[in-house]
Amino acid sequence: MLNNITLKNLKIGAKFNLLLILVFIVSILGSGVALSSVLQGRAQNEVASQAQILIQMVNAVRDYTQNRIDPLLAPRLDTNPTFMPEIVPTFSSKEVFENFRKKAEYKNFFHKDATLNPTNLVDKADNFETQLVERFRNDSKTLEITGFRNLPEGEVFYIARPLKITQQKCLRCHSTPDQAPKSQLATYGSENGFGWQLNQIVSAQIISVPSEDIFANAKRTWILIMILLITIFAIVVFLINFLITKYVIQRIRRIEKIAQKVSIGDMNADFEESSNDEIGGLAQAFNRMKASLKIAMDMLNNQS
Ligand code: HEC
Repeated sequence: MLNNITLKNLKIGAKFNLLLILVFIVSILGSGVALSSVLQGRAQNEVASQAQILIQMVNAVRDYTQNRIDPLLAPRLDTNPTFMPEIVPTFSSKEVFENFRKKAEYKNFFHKDATLNPTNLVDKADNFETQLVERFRNDSKTLEITGFRNLPEGEVFYIARPLKITQQKCLRCHSTPDQAPKSQLATYGSENGFGWQLNQIVSAQIISVPSEDIFANAKRTWILIMILLITIFAIVVFLINFLITKYVIQRIRRIEKIAQKVSIGDMNADFEESSNDEIGGLAQAFNRMKASLKIAMDMLNNQS
């Protein structure tokens, strides 16, 4: 640590620099941390709002299927030789989402109605998703779970909501195989997607949004602003140094040199100072002192 003695031995320039660099480091660290948390927060809001919009959209597609497609197809369920999956809300939301993902920039967005005992094994919940469904089942007050998760495609932000069986009509196809349309059994078999109960949470509706790019962007912005800040600080330190050297230190050195000359009897040396600032005042005071000294010395010389 710096003690008083070392501080005392430092030149003005060095003291100023020390102080400036201290202030510099503290402010860079402070603004770096604050900026990082602001940018991270914004990035998180961005992925979260993307996920919210998509889950809202997916639910709109589900509603459309239930309100518009179901009435059209339901009467034909028993007569049509093949099952028409278009009547299933999860099917339509999956199809719409797959169309959405066809665009390269959206290929790492995912949607899944992750189900513990699904009719279509594509919808089977993996370990992680099973835990989400269990959490929704264990706490009926939990209506949404969000977080980050690593997938082979990269890190994603996910938003999950419980999918509950709220209508009796759902159970026609999801309670026991003998109640289900024959065409459904022909397509999906009678093993999976049965035994569901009313008011049971069967799935977690999940939307995943790729987060890596958004966070990488936030990091790039952070680095850019930090470089800018450090450059500005460096220029300020350089300028302050330049000004202190030119307007303070050099002038004091000049006065010191002349004072030294006067002290060894050179009465012709003059403390020239054109400026009226504090150092100018000091030089004028020294000039007056030199004049008084000269008069006193002359008087002494005349007496002897
Ligand atoms: C006509 C029969 C039928 C009805 C009625 C029906 N479903 Fe399904 N459901 C299916 C079929 C078939 C699938 C698989 C579709 C696919 O291939 O994606 C399915 C899939 C699902 C899935 C995705 C998981 C899985 O099993 O693959 C959920 C969740 C689901 N249904 C919930 C419901 C809800 C809630 C209702 C009531 C609003 C309902 N279903 C009504 C036949 C039906």
